Parts: sequence; C-alpha cells; structure tokens
Amino acid sequence: PSLKNTFSYDFFIGAAINGGAINGSDTLALDLIRREFNSITPENIMKWEHIHPFPDKFNFEMPDKYVRLGQKNNMHIVGHTLVWHSQLAEWVAQVNDSASMAGLLTEHITKIVGRYKGKIDSWDVVNEALNEDGSLRESIFKEVLGDHYLELAFRTAAKADPEAQLVYNDYNLTHPEKREGAIRLVKNLQENGVKIDAIGMQGHWNLERPTLEEIETSILAYHKAGVKVLITELDITVLPNPWELEGAEVSQNFEGNKFMNPYPESLPDSVQNQLAERYADIFSLFAKHRDKIDRVTFWGINDGASWLNGWPIKGRTNYPLLFDRNYRPKKAYESIMKLK
Ligand code: XIL
Repeated sequence: PSLKNTFSYDFFIGAAINGGAINGSDTLALDLIRREFNSITPENIMKWEHIHPFPDKFNFEMPDKYVRLGQKNNMHIVGHTLVWHSQLAEWVAQVNDSASMAGLLTEHITKIVGRYKGKIDSWDVVNEALNEDGSLRESIFKEVLGDHYLELAFRTAAKADPEAQLVYNDYNLTHPEKREGAIRLVKNLQENGVKIDAIGMQGHWNLERPTLEEIETSILAYHKAGVKVLITELDITVLPNPWELEGAEVSQNFEGNKFMNPYPESLPDSVQNQLAERYADIFSLFAKHRDKIDRVTFWGINDGASWLNGWPIKGRTNYPLLFDRNYRPKKAYESIMKLK
C-alpha cells in the first residue's frame, strides 16, 4: 500500500523535492518519493533566480536531473515556476522598456518550456499574480508590460509545448475576493483565446482554515469556470500565524519566544490527532471531487524538510506533512490511507 496506489483512480499524488533527492544524496527522501508519490515538483531549482540568474546564463544541470528522475520513475512531472515576482533574478528588475521585457519573457519561457517539451507535463506558468482583493499585484512585469503580461506568458508557454498542462498558481484562492479575481483571470484568458488548463490552489492551510465548505465552494467555482483544479502546495501548519495574533503575543521578538515554537521536541498526541483528522477531512473532500481534481501535491516530503520550519518565522519546529523527521509515516498518513 502507498499513497499513489491508494489514490490511483483519483488524482496524482505529488511532492515538492530539492537537490538532495534530485541528485540522490538524500536516499531516504528518494526512497519515499519512489514508494509513495507519482508526481514531483521542484521546490526551488526552476525558479528564475536559479535557472536564469544572468541574462545569458541558464542553469539546466539540476533541472535536467530532476526531469530524468521523474522520467525514470514514470512520474507526472511539474515545472515550477515561469513567471513570479519572488525569487526572481535581480537583473530582471533593471529591464524597463516594454519591448525588451516582452522579448525577455518570451525567451525565458520558450527556452525552458521548449527544452522540456513532452517531458514536463504541467507548468505553473504564472505564480501569485493576484492581490488579496482579486486585483493584479504590482510587479516588474505588470509595471513594464501592463496587465497583459499574463496573456503573453500563457501564449508563449502554449506555443513552446502545446501538450503541457498550463496552470495559474496562487495561495488563498479559497478567499472569496481572491477567488473571484482568479476566475476573472481565467475568463479573460479564455475570452482572448489563450490556453489555460488549471488553477493551482496552493494548500498552505492550517487546522481550521480554510473550512471544508470554503474549499468545496472553490473547487466547484473553478470547475465551473472550465479548468481543472490542482492542490499544488499542500501543508497544514500546526503553529500560530503571527499575523493572526493580537496584542502582547505579537509584540514579542518571535524568535526565542516559546509561545511561537510550542512543540520544539515532538508534537503532542492531541495535536497529532487533530492533524490526522484534518487531513482525512480534506482528502475525503478531494476524493469526492476526483472528477475535478487532477493532482494533490505536498509542499515537501517530510516534516524536517518543510519550508514551514522557517516561514513566516525562522527557527520554529513544524509538523505539517505526512512523514516525520525520520521519514516515517505519521498518524495523518494512516488516516488518509484508511479512507479507502
Ligand atoms: C518556497 C520554498 O519552499 C522555500 O524553500 C523557499 O525558500 C521560498 O519558496 N509559494 C510558492 C513556493 O509558490 O514556490 C514557495 O516555496 C512557497 C510559497
């Protein structure tokens, strides 16, 4: 039994991976990926600052290895991400006329998508372009090219690999205003004859929010807009979000504040159980909507590798995934497997 076999009739089960798994030095991670997952996403190595750090320099060594790993193991291979304001190479911000920027974006996308044509199955073409109110976020791309940079990005990706699944990926896509924004974005592209295949809902969630109802409403809304739904970056934090706290608690220096790192050694059983229940709830919802959902990808393999140990505050000990720091399945894993 494994995650990928258990959900083989429902959706791909993916994980974000890093250098250690890609070059094989992290053998435990690699074993787990092969055993449990049938899809991979590169957590960092294909982001602009890594893959295209200078105008004439592309780093394809790790991405090539990443793609080979996926091919060897017959996986659904994801590319992440072509256009994003964050982890962008610094030199891009110097480009300030629209013709150069359009040429640059076209070259970036054509080169990368073209290189992995027929190999990378799904591309996060544009990442996090929306504000919380659903409007388009300020970025160098929007500033120099205007709102239609999205159209340019999707058109270029479609041209470079007509078969690849093209995705708009973002967080908080269960929030009503942002959801409306994402649907407008999809409609806009569709009305202009631009291919967009899926919405990637980054699942950076917690034990309570979003509610099952909010998640379901969103899945239905995106499906109705005519695109597939992907859960692209799933992890369930068990730690407080400092921005959601008030008063004394937040006025502290977060680091070294015990309250902000309540479980430095291990997760108490009560919370372990809550997490297991939460995962079971969301997975039974995903399975219910298997006809709309193509893929569920965890943002990391095991707790030790999760970015949530360092975000939004450095130095916390988080427990957001299905496998613990020793790569062993947690109760949350069992609870999901028990659904079937
Ligand atoms: C994160 C990685 O997990 C970290 O290792 C890195 O330092 C910062 O980026 N949304 C995304 C992901 O689309 O690319 C981000 O990944 C997490 C938020």
